[in-house]
Amino acid sequence: SLMDQVLGMQQIELRLAEYLGIARCVIATGDSDKQNQVISRLGKLLYQLLADQLPDGENIIAVMGGTTMAQAAEQFENLETAKRHNLFVPARGGIGELMNVQANTVSAVMAMRTNGAYRAIYVPEQLSLNTYESLLQEPAIAEVLALMQGANCVIHSIGRALPMAARRKMSETDILLLKRKGAVAESFGYFFNEKGQIVYKSPRIGLKLSQLQDVPYVYAIAGGRSKAKAIAAYMKNAPKQTCLITDEAVASEILKGA
Ligand code: G3H
Repeated sequence: SLMDQVLGMQQIELRLAEYLGIARCVIATGDSDKQNQVISRLGKLLYQLLADQLPDGENIIAVMGGTTMAQAAEQFENLETAKRHNLFVPARGGIGELMNVQANTVSAVMAMRTNGAYRAIYVPEQLSLNTYESLLQEPAIAEVLALMQGANCVIHSIGRALPMAARRKMSETDILLLKRKGAVAESFGYFFNEKGQIVYKSPRIGLKLSQLQDVPYVYAIAGGRSKAKAIAAYMKNAPKQTCLITDEAVASEILKGA
């Protein structure tokens, strides 16, 4: 019956959260690899979580990019109330990626769909260390960075290491390094091995993983069986308060090894 299915899914959500050592998992039916609309389902679930959980007052929501985040944003509706106001900021600078999946763009779409406010940051993500250091001194950038660092909510996706490296046009040398170090996952510009250890950091402007530890609301949204290994790896060292929004295919793949 439908009731059994709902109860069954709740059991799987609890098992997955326990296995990954994070606060909560919310699982949509299907496999995002096979049906693109499953990503929209993840987006709807994420929206409902935000609507239920974001506290009253002024929230600052730092948002990452990627195709999952961009599609999820399309599912958002109003999140403003008389008592609750949300400011969306990108969690990092631009990137060697298409405009529509940049953190800046996703953050602006989320703000517009939810009737919130947003601030953009106009810097490329792939930077040399020298350029990076000097950009941090720019007042307009420093201001958005300060907002980012005061975020009480972070929303991000998780990708597979090598596809992400290729999409961001990383150098052959860096890609070889990633392979040698066994990188399987990417998030926030960090690459992780199967144990969840950081094996590479892109020089970039944005939130650092260490800054996530004190953020009360952290949502990771990623689906598709092909991402199961990347998601499991990232979660090994993810902030414990993380809520993962994923699909059935990922859950069954990860729990297969449990
Ligand atoms: O950091 C992770 C990536 O942004 C995920 O990208 O949603 O396009 O797979 P994706």
